[in-house]
Amino acid sequence: MAILLDMTRTHVPVLAGELIDILDPQPGEIAVDCTFGAGGHARLVAERIGPAGTLICIDRDPVAERHFEEFAAEVQCQTRFLAAEFATGLRELRQEGLQADLAYLDLGVSSMQLDAWERGFSYSYDAPLDMRMDPDQEMDARQVVNEWDERRLANAFQTYGDERFARQIAREIVKRRGKAPLQSTSELVDAIRAAIPARVQRQFGGGHPAKRVFQAIRIVVNDELGSLDAALPLAWDVLRVGGRMGVISFHSLEDRRVKRFFADRGRGCICPPDLPVCVCGKEPEGEVLTSRAVAPTPGEIAENPRSKSAKFRAARKLEVAA
Ligand SMILES: C[S@@+](CC[C@H](N)C(=O)[O-])C[C@H]1O[C@@H](n2cnc3c(N)ncnc32)[C@H](O)[C@@H]1O
Repeated sequence: MAILLDMTRTHVPVLAGELIDILDPQPGEIAVDCTFGAGGHARLVAERIGPAGTLICIDRDPVAERHFEEFAAEVQCQTRFLAAEFATGLRELRQEGLQADLAYLDLGVSSMQLDAWERGFSYSYDAPLDMRMDPDQEMDARQVVNEWDERRLANAFQTYGDERFARQIAREIVKRRGKAPLQSTSELVDAIRAAIPARVQRQFGGGHPAKRVFQAIRIVVNDELGSLDAALPLAWDVLRVGGRMGVISFHSLEDRRVKRFFADRGRGCICPPDLPVCVCGKEPEGEVLTSRAVAPTPGEIAENPRSKSAKFRAARKLEVAA
């Protein structure tokens, strides 16, 4: 399927001022943007690190790579792009021995991906069931919807979408695909609508009944939580002592992982509390820079509703005695 690049589509970077304030990029620093997207955060970082700085950008979506080509021609710092899953890109950078000052991830999909109707991320457009960030990847939404058994579908809708009617929706999908495979987002939306009682759908207000299931399938197709688990320690590894790492997440499954990861880095002694003296000798390897998750202001949410569920957490790497 052709991927359309429409430059009129815009992605407004979320919590951008907060990310810059807390990670505080300095002239000449080396930064890794693990989720380049349209380069919204990258542009602000590039301005701060200036001509002596280096910005390494990663994204698995070829559309992001095309945005990067324009971006690289416009900014003054040194740039490099890795077309890769972010854990793979970070592993490559670690192998090269990179010592970065800054690494950050802005998780999930971009507005451009959601608005590119032909990619099937949105329940608002009729499109083939796809939802792959990397179009070269084999597994897509069509495969999940038509090949996963009922129990596995229900578990996914429940776990990754927090969907109340997970079992009913899974049953309806299996019933419908028994006649013919579901091919399009509209067919999936129809199945979801048929499974959720009408009186409940009337209570959805501004929300869409398919929102949770679409989120769940997207997380599964792109293995978003597996990728995050793999990437967090790798992003930490490529930082020099004094380097800062930040993550913007969009739902509790992501935020929980990020919170735990930074809390573990910030923890010193792990001896049982009843021991009179420390025997583990563990020192904190990081300082958490966000005592609680930073959330968007009501003003940002009003201007950019996509930011509503965003949370930002960050930490600085500390020297640990050998
Ligand atoms: C929310 S957007 C980032 C937007 C960007 N910060 C900006 O301001 O334009 C997330 C981007 O990360 C990419 N992405 C998400 N998960 C990824 C992964 N595991 N590996 C590589 N890229 C990923 C998506 O393709 C998307 O372009």
